[in-house]
Amino acid sequence: MASKGSGVKPSLQHGRQASPTPRTRSGPSPMGPVIDRPPLPRRTNPLLRAKLELPTTTTSQSTAGRIPPRGLTILGVSVLCISTYCGYLYTSYRREVAASRNLQVPEDVTDRFNASARNYDAEVDLGEKFMRLGRRRRELVRMARGDVLEVSCGTGRNMPFYLLGERWGVDDQGKAERQGCRSVTFVDLSPQMVEVAREKFRKCFPEGFERVAFWAGDAREVVPSSVPRGLPPPKTEEKEKEKDESQGSAEWSLSKPYFDTVVQTMGLCSTPDPVGLLRHLGKITEPTKGRILLLEHGRSYYGWVNSILDNLAVAHANRHGCWWNRDIGRIVEASGLEVVEVKRYHLGTTWKVILRPKPPSTDTEKRAEEK
Ligand SMILES: C[S@@+](CC[C@H](N)C(=O)[O-])C[C@H]1O[C@@H](n2cnc3c(N)ncnc32)[C@H](O)[C@@H]1O
Repeated sequence: MASKGSGVKPSLQHGRQASPTPRTRSGPSPMGPVIDRPPLPRRTNPLLRAKLELPTTTTSQSTAGRIPPRGLTILGVSVLCISTYCGYLYTSYRREVAASRNLQVPEDVTDRFNASARNYDAEVDLGEKFMRLGRRRRELVRMARGDVLEVSCGTGRNMPFYLLGERWGVDDQGKAERQGCRSVTFVDLSPQMVEVAREKFRKCFPEGFERVAFWAGDAREVVPSSVPRGLPPPKTEEKEKEKDESQGSAEWSLSKPYFDTVVQTMGLCSTPDPVGLLRHLGKITEPTKGRILLLEHGRSYYGWVNSILDNLAVAHANRHGCWWNRDIGRIVEASGLEVVEVKRYHLGTTWKVILRPKPPSTDTEKRAEEK
């Protein structure tokens, strides 16, 4: 007979004080022999205990163990696809660099736009969406006031963002100010690009706008009074109808010598004389409140990005009519215009620059300059 106090009694005590050796209870049981175990501590989760008693593993081993086979397959396929794509990019890059070295391309590649005008939007749409350039364009163009000139307007990618017609509004500080455009003049060297821009204007503003003009010519020759109002005669009757609705009236004119705002987006990369162009824009911008609003692309903050741009510049210019490795900062500096604001995006390759004509120098400065 077992002595009093021997065996394992149900206990509220924690396991450490209970006997470590399980014992078999005497007597038959339908489930087989019953093992007497030390009581579990009240708050012990057996599953958790089982886990804790597993042989210790490193973190990475345990994580790897947890990825299901399907996940591993997806991961493997993804790695394979990405490395194949990177390989493809690298091979294309090497090929383009080699092609770039052997190409002879003139500095003036503006004729490329005549051929690409109809496909231009489709070619740049995806890239611009990816870089969210639409909001940069909008932000810039919404600052245009008064009589506005857009040079290098291309196919009119800024068109949807213009506020046509002057109105009273409030500025960032809540002060009342005149907003919107009294007139807009669009200029581009390529007649084909201007034609696409004119069609876009009609789609964006079906109600029409009197004081708009389109001109195919060199931006370095534009002065407010010289821009012909209206376009060359349309070829068909249908086009004649369109012209009446959207082209604006040939009667309006700008008698003053300045534009209030000049806009240019992605133009300095494409013109053979970017400094000369900016200097000219400075001369036709209203000297006190007038602004030149630029959104440009060019060299980056980073050397490795610039090497890629440099290595591919010739092939890119040959295909797209744009020198993407120009130093926008230097061009602006050389123009002698006063910098109001500069912001850079996309590793420094996209430049938002606000300029104004340099204020006329004081007598002392003039004398110093003369010496
Ligand atoms: C890259 S496209 C940019 C078009 C448009 N501004 C945009 O943001 O998409 C450059 C444009 O500048 C025009 N361009 C280049 N030099 C010019 C000049 N001296 N006068 C007027 N347009 C010029 C080209 O014909 C071309 O349409």
